[in-house]
Amino acid sequence: MSDTKMDSIISLTKRRGFIYQGSEVYGGLSGTWDYGPLGVQLKRNITDAWWRHFVSNRDDMYGVDAAILMNQKVWQASGHVDTFVDPLCEDTVNHRRYRTDHILKDNGIDAESMTMEEMDAAIIEHGIKSPDGNPLSPSRTFNMMFKTHVGATEDESAISYLRPETAQGIFTNYKNVVDAFYPNIPFGLAQIGKAFRNEISPRDFVFRSREFEQMEIEYFVHPDRWEESFEELLASTHKFLSSLGLRSENIHELDVPEADRAHYSKKTIDIEFDYPTGKAELLGIAYRTDFDLSNIQQASGKSMEYRVKGSDEKFIPHVIEPSFGVERLMMAVLSEAYREDEVNGERRVYLHLPEELAPIKCAVSPLLKNKPELVEKARDVYRALKQKYDGAVMWDDNGNIGKRYRRQDEIGTPRCVVIDFQTLEDDTVTVRDRDTTEQVRVSVKELV
Ligand code: GAP
Repeated sequence: MSDTKMDSIISLTKRRGFIYQGSEVYGGLSGTWDYGPLGVQLKRNITDAWWRHFVSNRDDMYGVDAAILMNQKVWQASGHVDTFVDPLCEDTVNHRRYRTDHILKDNGIDAESMTMEEMDAAIIEHGIKSPDGNPLSPSRTFNMMFKTHVGATEDESAISYLRPETAQGIFTNYKNVVDAFYPNIPFGLAQIGKAFRNEISPRDFVFRSREFEQMEIEYFVHPDRWEESFEELLASTHKFLSSLGLRSENIHELDVPEADRAHYSKKTIDIEFDYPTGKAELLGIAYRTDFDLSNIQQASGKSMEYRVKGSDEKFIPHVIEPSFGVERLMMAVLSEAYREDEVNGERRVYLHLPEELAPIKCAVSPLLKNKPELVEKARDVYRALKQKYDGAVMWDDNGNIGKRYRRQDEIGTPRCVVIDFQTLEDDTVTVRDRDTTEQVRVSVKELV
């Protein structure tokens, strides 16, 4: 079922206007994806839910939105220029390039904790060849940041990078927010935005893309009290995932061993999800210590110390970082919501999306589109529901009622409202439920 299920989801998202290959009309651009009318709405519903959960509903979080292009010193101080690398090897005949750890994984060898030299040794020991059957070169490191130049000169001083994580845009604004709001510690800064990584081998649909979106929090804590905040943010993350309909049996915590952690982390819990393609990382929560603020202080010469209100105590805060990928979350939501069943002897596909995430909350149809009195009444109901559901209502008079239901099921619309001849007599409509397919008659007044 697994790969077939993934294929079915990918085909549904394309057919129904959620997700398309980037630049498809020109043959595509690997690792990029475009969002259609329903995809953009689903994505926005996910990011809105995250913002509500982690920012608006709390008193200790502040939002920021930093520029994607940043001073190159940011990436030198953060360690990304030197260490944000993946191991790359090459097919020695056709010169196609691969991530060495992925080649090993595809051959049943877990390379997570291996050094590059150990990976190369494993390739030789197991006689592993490229996917085209040719010998592989020894590995070298490949920096994943997209490099560019800012302004009209292309010298060293003009170098900049598309940000590979949104986190640094938060750290560089830590002082601005403290000076403006003087929040009590612990407090967090949150940001949602694009990140870019020149992945050697983008794969598994949107799971590993070159352009993607992150939702990140840097939560600033007293150095002695990081553990309680770590636990609180971890528990809050589980609550959030459950509110998106992800079942706990599909969610796993991985306490990442030291050798596999990012250079800045003293502890990381990865949350993994059972995707149709297998168990893989959904998000991470890392204890980044004072690594970033101390580096910024040193590189910029500006104090990053926090002074406790009404006391002389001063320190550089430590940081807990929950880091979510929007695309991975959307993939998890879609694979959890994707259902197949049988209705009246026919196979049916539907998305069991939570109401909060469904791109369309309600579809409205006149039973027959060539009866002006039905259409007029349906238009009235449609307009009223548009107001009620903040625009997330679809007018659907295409094909027969059965076809309309199937279409709405596939995009996860929780209810379909049909205006028929009885509506003209007693002002009631049928409301059909996506999950049970049951229909009930409800008065228009009650509905809107
Ligand atoms: N600031 C920390 C950081 O960026 P990360 O583990 O490299 O940590 C965080 O990335 C999250 O961003 C991942 O858990 C994943 O959800 C998402 N992510 C990372 N690389 C991605 C890619 N190439 N495509 C899609 N999502 C990605």
